[in-house]
Amino acid sequence: MHKDIREILFTEDEIAERVAQIGGELTDKYSKLVAEGESVVLVCVLRGAAIFMADLARATEVPMEMDYMAVSSYGSGAKSSGVVRIVKDLTASIEGKHVIVAEDILDTGLTLQFLIENLQTRNPASVEVVSLLRKNVKGQAPIRCLQIGFECPDEFIVGYGLDYAERYRNLPYIGVLRPEVYR
Ligand code: IMP
Ligand code: MG
Repeated sequence: MHKDIREILFTEDEIAERVAQIGGELTDKYSKLVAEGESVVLVCVLRGAAIFMADLARATEVPMEMDYMAVSSYGSGAKSSGVVRIVKDLTASIEGKHVIVAEDILDTGLTLQFLIENLQTRNPASVEVVSLLRKNVKGQAPIRCLQIGFECPDEFIVGYGLDYAERYRNLPYIGVLRPEVYR
């Protein structure tokens, strides 16, 4: 285990198993739509969801587009600023398509609230959210998720795509960062 990690919450195997389950759910939900000629696009919220999205896409047996969006809400610190802006927009139009947003973690919910509202204005056929993690915090914006990977405690979490100041994204597990590291 990395020296800056206090505790592993979800191991590489546990994550793989859960992602496979979620992929199965998405396959069940979307394959009929695709058979009827509808289009599906998996949208990755960069950069935290990149690893999750890559694994989820391969666990989902549905023809789909993959597109990427980057929003900023945190800077490099550990506290949500509540200010969300689009840093990189999708490459393709989502009009008439079924959008699945893959996000790394739902904390205050402000990022997803903003994203969902923004995507809805582009006339997609549907917008659903799949979040790898949901933090157990008070006052979280009410975001309806199709699937949540894992519930996690209100601590600073890193690994499997999640960073602190751009570090730890490549840890294969999800763990709690030692508070000494960011205090
Ligand atoms: P929200 O807008 O507060 O829900 O925050 C969502 C974004 O903040 C996520 O997409 C993450 O990039 C980041 N974030 C929130 N909590 C954590 C954490 O514990 N570790 C790493 N990033 C986090
Ligand atoms: Mg993020």
